[in-house]
Amino acid sequence: MCLGIILVLPIGGADMPVVVSLLNSLSGIAAAFTGFIIGNSVLIIAGSLVGASGLILTFIMCKAMNRTLLDVLFKSFGGSGEKVSLTRTKIGSDADEVAMMIDGAQKVIIVPGYGMAVSQCQHQVKEFADLITEKFGTEVKYAIHPVAGRMPGHMNVLLAEASVPYEQLIEMDEINSEFPDCDVAVVIGANDTTNPAARSGEGPLAGMPIIDADMARTVVIIKRSLSVGYAGVDNDLFYEDKTMMLFGDGKAMMSQLNTAIKEI
Ligand code: TAP
Repeated sequence: MCLGIILVLPIGGADMPVVVSLLNSLSGIAAAFTGFIIGNSVLIIAGSLVGASGLILTFIMCKAMNRTLLDVLFKSFGGSGEKVSLTRTKIGSDADEVAMMIDGAQKVIIVPGYGMAVSQCQHQVKEFADLITEKFGTEVKYAIHPVAGRMPGHMNVLLAEASVPYEQLIEMDEINSEFPDCDVAVVIGANDTTNPAARSGEGPLAGMPIIDADMARTVVIIKRSLSVGYAGVDNDLFYEDKTMMLFGDGKAMMSQLNTAIKEI
């Protein structure tokens, strides 16, 4: 038990879910071995399935974060607890301003993140997509980062619950090439997964593939403040001239935005 605690204690930040998945996999392998010892084939099969699926998930998550399993276990991590102290400021926009700007957009890509899950605004997001498609004829797609949110497939599950058509959910690798042709990227509660700092070779996010929302012509970001995300890294995207910050809770801001669009 002590060994387990000592191994896991220094791990934190964005690497923690990988470790949880690995431990889950190990529990399956332990169950399979128990099955061998007591001669129980159900335990062997069930344990092997848990062990194998956990390992597969662990490696998928490592790949999405561009880290090896050894880095995750033995190197210092993202989210070491050293949160960046913010000194920069950015003036927020309002829903009417954003609605008017979106009125002229031909292509909008929605980038959901953990904040969408916290505010449970997936139904308002779907309503927003339907509204601009019907009213302005805008093409809408969703950019899904493999580790957006706090569990694998988090965004897919929430958006499926809101009946967003599956074919509109596009994986990061596929959608990134579309951002230069995108009029507006609407980032809803995502932070680390859009942080251009990940492209540099330094810091907790270094090397993690991101959604290229910053390549869109205009970026709208909905979150409550300029605060950092899970990995504790300040996001330069918030301060760019082409970025409009809509400060507030995801559900409240999406509702305001939808009302503003209906009034146009
Ligand atoms: P994060 O980087 O965690 O940022 C989420 C943002 O949501 C925060 O900056 C926060 O800003 C905002 N937010 C929180 N509550 C909100 C609300 N009610 N309304 C609107 N915004 C709200 O999110 P991400 O881009 O999805 O990245 C996920 C991170 O979690 C990655 O670093 C990833 O490695 C890590 N992680 C992933 C997983 C898996 S497997 N998906 C598991 C654990 C950790 P404000 O406080 O300013 O609102």
